[in-house]
Amino acid sequence: MALIQKSLEEGILTLTIQRPEALNALNRQVIDALSAAVEAAQNNGEVRVIIITGSGDKAFVAGADIKEFADFDQAQGEELARRGQRELFDRVERSSKPVVAAINGFALGGGLELAMAAHVRVAANNARMGLPEVSLGVIPGYGGTQRLAQIVGKGKAMEMVLTGGMIDAEAALACGLINQVVDQELLLETAHALAAKMAKNAPTALAAALDSVLAGYGREGFEVEVTRFGQCFTTDDFKEGTTAFLEKRKPNFPGS
Ligand code: CAA
Repeated sequence: MALIQKSLEEGILTLTIQRPEALNALNRQVIDALSAAVEAAQNNGEVRVIIITGSGDKAFVAGADIKEFADFDQAQGEELARRGQRELFDRVERSSKPVVAAINGFALGGGLELAMAAHVRVAANNARMGLPEVSLGVIPGYGGTQRLAQIVGKGKAMEMVLTGGMIDAEAALACGLINQVVDQELLLETAHALAAKMAKNAPTALAAALDSVLAGYGREGFEVEVTRFGQCFTTDDFKEGTTAFLEKRKPNFPGS
């Protein structure tokens, strides 16, 4: 099974992340495959709009792959965040074609960060969203500290980042994190209808509009996030948080 399933219909390219056994968690291979698919779409004249979704009905993406980075050191942690941001998250946000995230379940950590790098978000009514990284002894490293505040404002972003809690689709709609909520069976149809409204517009104007909206948002915070993300990998809290996840138990943070 390909890690990314591609389907092109009426100018709308749907990219489906297919790693359901790990709730579509973003390991290196998924990041590379999704990045390549988004990049290829930029140069494909038949593609007008891109939809990103996850396979199965349980998860969009449950985050970065915790098993992959649990034994990383500071330099590797920093590189994970920097490379991921550059290769995938910035590439999605800087796409010259609109990107719609269709959130079909859990969108946590790197999963919510991916949805937030997209330009518009539609969620199924079973979706649960959050940035639980602090419960693992780390912080969001794929742009979440920046994009969440940009989308929902600093106060709500602080609450979500600091509690690490999840919110449901209705709460996400109320705070502007998502644009629409629909019954799960209507999710792809709804995302497609929204994408079709964009696809009928002038591609050059869409690219100019995306570029202009994004020009209003600063970039400095992303580098701070990468550095602070890497520093977390030196702490006992990080070792305890990731070990507890892998052992399927609650963490007992030492605070150092
Ligand atoms: N990484 C690796 N594997 C993951 C995963 C992740 N982020 N999320 C889920 N999985 C795996 C589980 O380990 C499990 O695998 P096994 O069957 O081999 O044990 C499988 O997917 C199914 O998951 P659960 O059994 O945990 O399913 P559940 O229904 O009990 O819970 C859940 C669902 C609440 C989403 C839970 O899986 C969970 O909390 N996942 C982790 C969420 C998280 O912390 N995400 C942030 C990751 S860190 C990050 O993203 C950093 C960054 O910004 C760069």
